[in-house]
Amino acid sequence: MTMKKIIVFGSNGLLGQSIVDRFCSDFEVIGASRNAANKSLAKNIQYHQIDMTNRQEMDSLLQAEKPDIIINCAAYTDVDGAENDRELCWNTNVRAVENIIDAAGLFKPVIVQVSTDYVFDGEAGDYRESDPVNPKGTYARSKMAAENILTSSQFEYIIARTQVLYGYGNKVKLNFATWVISRLSQNKSIRVVSDQKGNPTYIDDLSESIFQLIEKHEFGLYHISGSEALTRFEFARRIARVFEFNSELIEKIHTEDLKQVAPRPMDSTFILDKLINHINWIPGDIDSGLQRLKIKLNEYYG
Ligand SMILES: NC(=O)c1ccc[n+]([C@@H]2O[C@H](COP(=O)([O-])OP(=O)(O)OC[C@H]3O[C@@H](n4cnc5c(N)ncnc54)[C@H](OP(=O)(O)O)[C@@H]3O)[C@@H](O)[C@H]2O)c1
Repeated sequence: MTMKKIIVFGSNGLLGQSIVDRFCSDFEVIGASRNAANKSLAKNIQYHQIDMTNRQEMDSLLQAEKPDIIINCAAYTDVDGAENDRELCWNTNVRAVENIIDAAGLFKPVIVQVSTDYVFDGEAGDYRESDPVNPKGTYARSKMAAENILTSSQFEYIIARTQVLYGYGNKVKLNFATWVISRLSQNKSIRVVSDQKGNPTYIDDLSESIFQLIEKHEFGLYHISGSEALTRFEFARRIARVFEFNSELIEKIHTEDLKQVAPRPMDSTFILDKLINHINWIPGDIDSGLQRLKIKLNEYYG
């Protein structure tokens, strides 16, 4: 039996690398990102360099490959930068998705779009898929617009709303957990907010959830995150505990102390019932994710 073909956009990024790893033994995986192929990409995996905001480039890649499934992990992810770089943010997060839809119309792949808790304003918390959205800021609005493109399309889709991704990636920017680890391992102090709450998500758990949804043909909108909700300050303290660093180096602050340009949802905790019911699998808690991250970092850095 021939394997189904998947294009993973953003395969050089933090989540994209994990998705490629999870899918490559069961599917024919093709990586695609803006820069040259990351060296983590296995030798036997095809790769295309592409600027997804360019309609012609998207047309020629999708017409040539005609994948069965597209997983879009590419995005403009600098939440504060987006306020000064609105056009690039919008082109990357919205125009690129329009380009996928326009280019894939004739062969209709299943499209997986990775979205965010930032579609909520964070005033209520405990969000279900059916709760009303209220995105604040350019990044949040662009991710919402991308969701709307899919929900109003004729494609079968999975929208995977996730949050606070952490894990190891080759040559990717620091995520919250790797930032905390890098500072505390050098005995440097950090200031961490105690008034933002959410469910940190280990990247491999998100990849596993998406894999299961695809395998079981469970399409639609899903909240996918780690199973445990806590504040960023508590998360940093858990990291210190698992990695055996000095937790006294973590100073508690409030969001207003950071003077961030873009607004942040204060409580974006997710209810995961829909995901758990549909795939019969529960993403790990914080200690499980951190233990797996510790093993990975030991493999790479000893
Ligand atoms: N990180 C989080 O905490 C978080 C939370 C909620 C939701 N999300 C969502 O999760 C997804 C994955 O996030 P991530 O943290 O893994 O992102 P990331 O590490 O920043 O990776 C983004 C990828 O997008 C690619 N890309 C950007 N512009 C492109 C373009 N014009 N054409 C082709 N590729 C382009 C980049 O390619 P190059 O590396 O080749 O430049 C990069 O590999 C995103 O949709 C994000 O919005 C993330």
